[in-house]
Amino acid sequence: MPTPQQRTRIKDLLTANQPGSPNPDDAVVVKGWVKTVRSSGGVAFVQINDGSTLADLQLVVAADCPDFPLVGQLTTGCSISADGLLQESPGRGQRYEIHTRRLELLGGADPEEYPLQKKRHTLEFLRELAHLRPRTNTFGAVARVRNAMAFGIHQFFQQRGFLYIQTPIITASDAEGAGAMFRATTLDLNRLPTQDGQVDNSVDFFGRPAFLTVSGQLEAEIFAQAMSDVYTFGPTFRAENSNTSRHLAEFWMVEPEVAFCDLDGLAQLAEDFLRSIFAHVLATCPDDLAFFNRFYDRELIATLESIVAADFERMTYTEAVNLLQSSGETFQFPAQWGSDLQSEHERYLTENKVGRPVIVTDYPSSIKAFYMRVNDDDPDGRQTVRAMDVLVPRIGEIIGGSQREERLDVLQSRMAAAGLDDAPYWWYLDLRRYGTAPHAGFGLGFERTVQFATGMQNIRDIIAFPRTPRNAEF
Ligand code: 4AD
Ligand code: MG
Repeated sequence: MPTPQQRTRIKDLLTANQPGSPNPDDAVVVKGWVKTVRSSGGVAFVQINDGSTLADLQLVVAADCPDFPLVGQLTTGCSISADGLLQESPGRGQRYEIHTRRLELLGGADPEEYPLQKKRHTLEFLRELAHLRPRTNTFGAVARVRNAMAFGIHQFFQQRGFLYIQTPIITASDAEGAGAMFRATTLDLNRLPTQDGQVDNSVDFFGRPAFLTVSGQLEAEIFAQAMSDVYTFGPTFRAENSNTSRHLAEFWMVEPEVAFCDLDGLAQLAEDFLRSIFAHVLATCPDDLAFFNRFYDRELIATLESIVAADFERMTYTEAVNLLQSSGETFQFPAQWGSDLQSEHERYLTENKVGRPVIVTDYPSSIKAFYMRVNDDDPDGRQTVRAMDVLVPRIGEIIGGSQREERLDVLQSRMAAAGLDDAPYWWYLDLRRYGTAPHAGFGLGFERTVQFATGMQNIRDIIAFPRTPRNAEF
């Protein structure tokens, strides 16, 4: 593939002889950032990387190259351009190398100051260097896997005839009814305008309180009630003070919403979807996955392959609680009907009990959002909703979704029970007034999914610039 500036990407050089790639003896121009420089017997070897692939490219600079003296100025982190002949490499570790004819130093990196040195740095240290960490093997690999998965997600839905829609980031309604929203305001916080002792929101930018969205679901439902099969893929925000390895204040969510679909259809869609995107990443990122398998999780590829091959387990919340109670395990929080499943419970179910993904359905209505469809009471008189969570080993909940409450009166009484004011949701209720139809949808946490596919321990290493409590650098 030609690049915009007629250089050749390292990825294409290292797959020489294939269609679209150069052949040995071709003259090529390569550009990138230096990883290491070493000399032996009057010949210099410069490893460079341009992010197109995990592997570095070796430039061989012989003493008769007119730019040989420049080699002494090359240090880790500097950027260079090289012009040379592609050759099969006699050395170990790479199939091809470049026999350099011209070399140009584009930008130096003072070795006394450049913070990324040859040694391995901890992930915690690299988090402080989010502007430089994409140059490391790990973060380059995360970026490529993340890119491949985003593409695989679009491909899955596009092939199934789903319409990609964009929902707003600024909103006046709380999609989860959980009150975990960031306020979006242009008011001067040092001099708040007041009216009768209260903040006067009518003079704020939107003339009312506005927030960053927690989910595009409610607007996706609008489109599902017209276009039938839609999905969103965008940033969402949660002002929860959750400092865990699986929570971000800003994360990306994929939210399909499907008309004329019930919870069983939705669970099947979720299962097909997850298996398809893991199959896609296995097929398109073999080198990066081999890297993660080697350095981060020895079971990674085997786990992904087994998920692609096996059906997911399904159980109701009530069955899950019974399993947990009869498991003989001691949990920090004992499982109890009516309480939300803790991550220790989720992990026990998916890791120890079934050893593969589990879809848990029909949770108590008291612990789930107002929009989920209410079931008839169970024989013990307990009320549940048609919710589902998809749980995977190591991560726990990766997908949350439900069949939606399409009955106006039931929805209104659920909102009242949740203490939600009808007024900001008037349009959402209108969907139940005019041509209401059964429908269902879910949200997939994109970072948790990439975290699962890479074996990385901490979600802060999955998004380029993590936003977490007390941290919004870069
Ligand atoms: O379960 P949640 O809160 O569901 C919703 O927001 C629904 N409105 C989705 C829908 O039905 N359209 O979030 C969905 C998923 C979770 O399963 C989790 O993977 C991810 O989003 N998620 C987070 N990921 C990172 N950091 C956080 N703070 C997250 N909160 C949820
Ligand atoms: Mg959830």
